[in-house]
Amino acid sequence: MAVSSAPGKVYLFGEHAVVYGEPAVPCAIEVRARVGVEKRADSKLRIHAEDLSLDGFTVEYGGTADGPPDVDVQESLLDAAMGYVDSAIEQVRDVTGEDQVGFDVTIESDIPLGAGLGSSAAVAVAAIDAGTRELGTTLETDELAERAYQTEYEVQGGQASRADTFCSATGGAVRVEGDDCRSLDAPDLPIVVGFDGGAGDTGKLVAGVRSLREEYEFAADTVESIGDIVRNGEQALAADDIEEIGRLMDFNHGLLSALGVSSRSLDSMVWAARNAGAHGAKLTGAGGGGCIVALDPTDETETALSYTPGCEDTFRAELAETGVERLE
Ligand code: MEV
Repeated sequence: MAVSSAPGKVYLFGEHAVVYGEPAVPCAIEVRARVGVEKRADSKLRIHAEDLSLDGFTVEYGGTADGPPDVDVQESLLDAAMGYVDSAIEQVRDVTGEDQVGFDVTIESDIPLGAGLGSSAAVAVAAIDAGTRELGTTLETDELAERAYQTEYEVQGGQASRADTFCSATGGAVRVEGDDCRSLDAPDLPIVVGFDGGAGDTGKLVAGVRSLREEYEFAADTVESIGDIVRNGEQALAADDIEEIGRLMDFNHGLLSALGVSSRSLDSMVWAARNAGAHGAKLTGAGGGGCIVALDPTDETETALSYTPGCEDTFRAELAETGVERLE
């Protein structure tokens, strides 16, 4: 069996707009998905998953990609998770040319599904890395990121950027603009995450922004303005100017709200963080529900979030310096 892990991420700036060619800056954090892949004697795919949420409930299922798993979590989330694994395994078969090979896949993840922390990208990166290594091929990081991007692209119906998968494969803070993906020097940021216990449907949220953008010129302008915020954010990151980074995160949240991807609980958590003295706060990822990211070196934001109705969990996140890790 080969086992790999890959980190989740938060977006400091630029989600959604990155789908339309604007730059984005996601940052890998130390919450990980670990995927074990073992070759089977037949051509079946069996997936076993545990700990698919931060609050520690365990999801266990054993099934095939063809049969519905017997578990008590939102079916759309499970379908999505199965879709990513299925598609990642297709990439493994494609890279290695072994198109009839079957696998037992085991997933353990600290990253809540669909909550904006990059669970699908982390699972795709770790599954492709472990699957290819199980068949004797070790991919370079760039190819791994590209293959994981293809996985997301397919599952999300052709609406995905390279940001999540590149960040998860390489670790650290990265800058992505179209096909151009690179690592950034980032200051050690005091990242606090708030999680409302929910999730958003990335495909639907991305499609919603797309149609707004087509319908209203001001929505297209909003997407471009997010790009401007990202460019300012890069300068603030380079200058280690945490107050300015936070201020720009606040702007970024406002524009994401205008594009309709925030929610009442995300807004409540953002305001709780700001009122507690955070340098800035915004939703992270596709939105609709899930997580916010705030910057606060003190304990105030975590304390405030823990008392905020609608916030189910809050924690401090460390930057993940490394992306994919080969464990076995
Ligand atoms: C989702 O984590 C981030 C989005 O920008 C979609 C993408 O980049 O593929 C909303």
